[in-house]
Amino acid sequence: MQKQVDVLNKVLNGEHMAIDTYSTVLNKIDNQILKEQLQKILHQHKKHAMDLSERIQDIGGKIDENLVLKGWLTETSLKIQCYSNINVIDALMILYNGEDKGISTTEELLKHLDEKNKELVQTNLSEDSDHLMILEGIISQIKGKQLH
Ligand SMILES: [Fe+2]
Repeated sequence: MQKQVDVLNKVLNGEHMAIDTYSTVLNKIDNQILKEQLQKILHQHKKHAMDLSERIQDIGGKIDENLVLKGWLTETSLKIQCYSNINVIDALMILYNGEDKGISTTEELLKHLDEKNKELVQTNLSEDSDHLMILEGIISQIKGKQLH
């Protein structure tokens, strides 16, 4: 069971990195419509983190606070904080690459999970894949506007 807890904690860490990165980018964005779109995604990652935390506790495990702390101070979010005027496309690309990397890391971790835990993580993963499509849509929309 400890092995399951360890793997779930790593997946949870990824969610915290996502939450951290989206929150940082959101602080840099003024456009209200874009803000709302990104807030929706942030909200889903928060739900993923909550569900994972609950599962870890349900199977008798403990949430690894060290990993959570590391998640709150991700390299990416620190990088964004350093830009005083990051352009929107660059910020969105940071989110896109983060989601993409998060998905492949989580897919790798999936192999070590039992059926029940795999099911939970797969549900989260399918929403994360939707995020990629949403971000892609927003990026091409903005680029399209810039051309006109
Ligand atoms: Fe997520």
